[in-house]
Amino acid sequence: MSVCEFKPGLEGIPAAQSSISFVDGQKGILEYRGIRIEELAEKSNFLETAYLLIWGELPTKEELEAFEHEVRYHRRIKYRIRDMMKSFPESGHPMDALQASAAALGLFYSRRDLDNPAYIRAAVVRLLAKIPTMVAAFQLMRKGNDPVRPRDDLDYSANFLYMLSEQEPDPLAARVFDVCLALHAEHSMNASTFSARVTASTLTDPYAVVASAVGTLGGPLHGGANEEVITMLEEIGSVANVRPYLEERIQRKDKIMGFGHRVYKVKDPRAIILQHLAEKLFDKFGYDNYYDIAIEMERVIEEKLGQKGIYSNVDFYSGLVYRKLGIPTDLFTPIFAIARVAGWLAHWKEQLIQNRIYRPTQVYSGLHDIPYIPIEQR
Ligand code: SDX
Repeated sequence: MSVCEFKPGLEGIPAAQSSISFVDGQKGILEYRGIRIEELAEKSNFLETAYLLIWGELPTKEELEAFEHEVRYHRRIKYRIRDMMKSFPESGHPMDALQASAAALGLFYSRRDLDNPAYIRAAVVRLLAKIPTMVAAFQLMRKGNDPVRPRDDLDYSANFLYMLSEQEPDPLAARVFDVCLALHAEHSMNASTFSARVTASTLTDPYAVVASAVGTLGGPLHGGANEEVITMLEEIGSVANVRPYLEERIQRKDKIMGFGHRVYKVKDPRAIILQHLAEKLFDKFGYDNYYDIAIEMERVIEEKLGQKGIYSNVDFYSGLVYRKLGIPTDLFTPIFAIARVAGWLAHWKEQLIQNRIYRPTQVYSGLHDIPYIPIEQR
């Protein structure tokens, strides 16, 4: 490749050297620090997985207990953050509220000390601990309610579901949700992680790193697709309507949300696990039309677009799971962000080790030596 060749979307261009996660898009393999995602989904939990991603190794029992304790202790948010969030318009999207709140956290912890491991650890703990509380607080406050204080006797995911609904969650629901977080925690050089690394490379603070990544995750081509999937399932409405709906959209060259991936040319391994999780929830809490529509969609897309390597991605079944858990649709992407904070922080930490500011080039396609025309002559 010549240095001047422009690759839209930087497809195939390495933007970092990283040992955090590995994706084989042809075989459908995802590993965090060398461990298969299927194994982590079965045996680990979100906080342990976050520790693995950020510090590179599975924690010992003592290390995990200490980490869980610190995260639990830092769940509360300052009343000034709550007051600031209260003044956000309730019609605003929760991703925008989250981006603003994540950036605002940096105002309270502004002494930057990137060479100090204690500073790094404190920032990791605070962000993992407080982001879920901020998402839940905005959800309650936009309905006119007061936010619920975190419950120290509940673990990470059960506490988040409790803060959202003010009810202690069913154990299966809490476990399924926790696995969802682990599945979404990291995915190599995706758009939001790239954004996080570029921001990190300027040696700014980690709150700005996370805020920039949240802004990038929200778009419908990235994390925002999970919300669009539910809108699409609602529009389809019945199994009988799946084929005509998809045929029309494919003919119009519309993108089918929750399908396709820059790297995976087979079904996303996370979608396979999420489908099983959705089935567990449907088995316990009852099947509905959405599941049947989703299965039929996969069948038709495989038939129509399978030869192009377009299969379901992580955003397709996560929406189904969250909907079954009773979570409002516009919180699906903030929940993706809660999980992905782990990956962003792992990349922030890795970027700092051998940092060089990102400063790519461009292929200039404009003009040269154009004379300035005075305004009255234009
Ligand atoms: C995530 O990168 C990551 O790792 C992201 C992620 C993570 O964990 O961080 O995995 C999370 O972002 C998942 C993706 C969520 N987005 C969607 O579900 C939106 C729908 N999907 C797409 O728009 C698309 O597949 C992308 C954005 C995910 C990937 O886009 P690319 O690699 O730029 O592919 P493309 O748009 O250039 O499409 C290539 C071809 C085109 O056909 P041709 O013009 O070559 O004939 O595939 C077709 C596209 O039309 N295509 C689709 C399609 N996705 C690709 N056609 C119909 N529906 C789709 N969803």
